[in-house]
Amino acid sequence: MSRRCSGILAFWVAFLLTSSFVWANGSESEADIHFSALIKKGEPLFIHYCSHCHGIAGDGDGYNAEYLDKEPAELSDHEFLAKKSNEQIYKIIDLGGRGVRKSHLMPSFGHTLSEEELWSLVAYVRFLSGDTSHLVTSPEGVLTTRPTGPQETIEALSDFSRWFLESGEEPSILGQGEKLFKKKKSCLACHQVDDEGGIVGPDLSRSGFSYTPEWLYTWMGNPQHVKPDTKMPNVGLAKEESQAITAYLSKMMGEGLTEEWSEYLKEKGDAEAGEKLFFDLEGKANCSKCHRVNGSGGKVGPELSWVGSSRTLPFLLESILDPKVVITSGYASVLILTNKGKFISGVKTNEDDSSIDLVNNEGLSLRILKVDIRKFKTQKISIMPGNFKDILNLQETRNLLAFLETLKLFEVSKTEGVEILTIKD
Ligand code: HEC
Ligand code: HEC
Ligand code: HEC
Repeated sequence: MSRRCSGILAFWVAFLLTSSFVWANGSESEADIHFSALIKKGEPLFIHYCSHCHGIAGDGDGYNAEYLDKEPAELSDHEFLAKKSNEQIYKIIDLGGRGVRKSHLMPSFGHTLSEEELWSLVAYVRFLSGDTSHLVTSPEGVLTTRPTGPQETIEALSDFSRWFLESGEEPSILGQGEKLFKKKKSCLACHQVDDEGGIVGPDLSRSGFSYTPEWLYTWMGNPQHVKPDTKMPNVGLAKEESQAITAYLSKMMGEGLTEEWSEYLKEKGDAEAGEKLFFDLEGKANCSKCHRVNGSGGKVGPELSWVGSSRTLPFLLESILDPKVVITSGYASVLILTNKGKFISGVKTNEDDSSIDLVNNEGLSLRILKVDIRKFKTQKISIMPGNFKDILNLQETRNLLAFLETLKLFEVSKTEGVEILTIKD
């Protein structure tokens, strides 16, 4: 479809979604009403989970598309979609590309969304293609709850740690992990390693430096358990698959810590003093102005409530002393010069063929049309101040690190003699 056509389609999408939706050929039957309810439900899901690859209007032009070796299907293409049954569309969203002998770059969503939500996505895809001949209704008795996955237990996590120490460096396992990551599961569709892959999630080529193995294993096994609204789907890894991918990622150290900073890690600081400094609004650090921990603090930067579980100490130290080295996923800063000569900067939250969404430094959400942009630059800068290494002395920095180290994701509770890990509130 030509770009002009896709613009017109985008207009129709906007128009139809704001008016109550009736097919052109007449009165609304019960099935029609069910269909339009499903479409409404599917829209936010599509924007959240699909638009980075397929584009907001389904034109195959999401901001991640150019990083994929296989083009995301053009879901606004009427002819392409008309050849497929509703069940076929359901199947690829449920099982992912590999489940239907297509590209592994199309992820599986059946371990993340409820059956009803998957049907609502089928309806929304039909709607994007402008197809009136395949009414979508979800089957009787369809599940409306999302799959939750198994409970994490202390025992399973210590089993993993033991396994990792014994077998985490075996070449055959590392090879298996790489193959799963790059060719079988959809990881490469959203993450960069070795200068290839998508940009929806963080670059993982320095995973061994940044993340603890226990964290990698826990996160990839069930991302929704940690962060219910994350864009990363649970791709349904078996235990052995998570183990192998963790081993592979943990070997990737990238550049280590700047040598002169190892001094900071020689002694442990005072966590209580660190907590005070973190939350002291009048203090030198004022970290909580931008970061939330256990429900209090600002939202300009990422939540830090569990960085003591997920990040390594060298990574945390580097984040404080030189924040621009690694920009946390979702906090990339962009600078835009408009045709009218105005500079706008902020954190990019979304992009498609025609516009860029960003949150500016005052926390305001903006949408800027690409036709209005003269120059666009992604900046290698962090909104986090870069001068803490001058402001904070050795002891204060150690205290902050000691505090961050206490921030754990899980609490342990005992049910019928088994120690279960639960997410703390
Ligand atoms: C990381 C990128 C990515 C994401 C996210 C993604 N897709 Fe895809 N999708 C693809 C790619 C690549 C293909 C092409 C697969 C092929 O033809 O081998 C595809 C193909 C498809 C197809 C066409 C399948 C066919 O029969 O040819 C449908 C339908 C689809 N995706 C729906 C969705 C929906 C709905 C979502 C969100 C729940 C989604 N996709 C999320 C990359 C993605
Ligand atoms: C559809 C895109 C997508 C796919 C597919 C995907 N991820 Fe992610 N991943 C993300 C996003 C987005 C984040 C950022 C999470 C957040 O903060 O919500 C992320 C975060 C991560 C993180 C960092 C977690 C943290 O604490 O910051 C790891 C590790 C990771 N993914 C590994 C994987 C692995 C391994 C696979 C394949 C099994 C995979 N991802 C598949 C999108 C994806
Ligand atoms: C003006 C706002 C601001 C202040 C003040 C601030 N930060 Fe940040 N911080 C950010 C932003 C934005 C990011 C994400 C961009 C990046 O990675 O640099 C970030 C990232 C981080 C990260 C990396 C998180 C991760 O998991 O990737 C850590 C750790 C961190 N900050 C700790 C601190 C500490 C400790 C302080 C106080 C000494 C502090 N920050 C003060 C805004 C701030």
